[in-house]
Amino acid sequence: MLNMHTEYQTIGKPFELRGATIEELRKKLVTRTAKVGVVGLGYVGLPLAVEFAGAGFRVTGIDVQESKVGRLNLGDSYVQDIPSSTVADLINQHKFCATTDFSVISSLDTVNICVPTPLRKTKDPDMSYIVSACEGIAKHLHRGMLVILESTTYPGTTDELVLTMLEQSGLKVGRDFFLCFSPERVDPGNTNYQTRNIPKVVGGITQACTEIGALFYAQALERVVPVSSTQVAEMVKLLENTFRMINIGLVNEMAMMCDRMGINVWEVIEAAATKPFGFMPFYPGPGLGGHCIPIDPFYLSWKSKQAGIEARFIELAGYVNGQMPHFVVTKVQDALNELAKPLKGSRVHILGVAYKKDIDDCRESPALDIMHLLIARGALVTYSDPFVPNLRVDDSQLISESVALACAAADCVVIVTDHSTFDYAAIVEQSATIVDTRNALKQFSCGKIVRL
Ligand SMILES: NC(=O)c1ccc[n+]([C@@H]2O[C@H](COP(=O)([O-])OP(=O)(O)OC[C@H]3O[C@@H](n4cnc5c(N)ncnc54)[C@H](O)[C@@H]3O)[C@@H](O)[C@H]2O)c1
Repeated sequence: MLNMHTEYQTIGKPFELRGATIEELRKKLVTRTAKVGVVGLGYVGLPLAVEFAGAGFRVTGIDVQESKVGRLNLGDSYVQDIPSSTVADLINQHKFCATTDFSVISSLDTVNICVPTPLRKTKDPDMSYIVSACEGIAKHLHRGMLVILESTTYPGTTDELVLTMLEQSGLKVGRDFFLCFSPERVDPGNTNYQTRNIPKVVGGITQACTEIGALFYAQALERVVPVSSTQVAEMVKLLENTFRMINIGLVNEMAMMCDRMGINVWEVIEAAATKPFGFMPFYPGPGLGGHCIPIDPFYLSWKSKQAGIEARFIELAGYVNGQMPHFVVTKVQDALNELAKPLKGSRVHILGVAYKKDIDDCRESPALDIMHLLIARGALVTYSDPFVPNLRVDDSQLISESVALACAAADCVVIVTDHSTFDYAAIVEQSATIVDTRNALKQFSCGKIVRL
């Protein structure tokens, strides 16, 4: 927990002025009278806003999408992990409201920035959302305010980009306002770990920034981990996601090697995982998906290139992971060959299109790549996903079909996402042949199952 009696260093300005500003904010935080703002109400921002509102703060969410703001103000949640009833209760208790109007920031004490950070086609960071959010905040930045960037980004963003933009207001960081970076680690669909009980790393531009940032999170979250700078906090997130991406790359390469050698990779991993130290199981799959693992490591490789270091592990894992949709299509072709059917003109049914099980998010989903490749080779592609009622693939708008009917009608079924609600016994019975990219059919053994 935070040391409430830390001595503050002055940053070339009179101690009393800084002290008074920070004391005022500190009082508002511990008495829950601080007015909290969250910019960007998506998978990250909405759960954060709900957590602080639930902890007793008055929270204002700011988003550029009028449709999202309108839905939230009617108590209608579009984020799967946040029930509409929770939003509706907070709205009724006047603990939460949403707006598209950035001028509300003049009346807020804190603002967390949770906007998207995608990659451009060239795999360079797209900072446009952060820049636009900061422009909106800078206009209304005022003395005594805490600003925290949560969007995943390259090390140096908070210091080089956000700080520069905010100080154009004439206010000085560490004295007039406070600026931190705190990586978001939320894992949509994870019922054990959610915003409240995932430890929160936070690093500030100055020591005072870190302390007030840590105090802020300590009001609503179970554990706060202060670090010495914004750059360290930014790098923590990139280490975590790069670690996953590279290990998934390794195990995907293992899967392709095992396939060539006729070894069951899933059995290998399961047996290796019995080692009680020095090994952590990762699993192969149809390719990387989601808004984080396929993207964040390239923020790091982009930045490290500027520092004169090639991120070779990242590039290599990116290449191997990028091969997986092609590998899956080869498996489909092999499975159809066994039935003496060409891929062109065959009906291929995809089970699960979200990027991971039991969620509705299709961003960067490998299912999209697999479907694109299959369509390009002339296959007639359909899909079922209980979480995704319709899906755009290339130029076609597809609708989720009945699992039983579509499996029975298909020449080949491909399990891309292993949702818990699928009836796997029925799927095995109804399908002519099945390519299983997730080992969802581990319990079944029959000739028509082709494993990764
Ligand atoms: N989704 C995850 O599981 C996850 C996990 C950890 C970290 N992150 C990171 O968190 C950040 C946000 O991701 P997300 O999944 O919540 O994205 P999202 O697309 O679900 O939500 C972002 C929201 O920001 C809004 N927005 C865009 N520009 C804006 C602006 N200028 N002002 C105000 N609102 C604006 C969008 O309308 C959208 O509602 C990204 O950097 C992402 O990498 C995401």
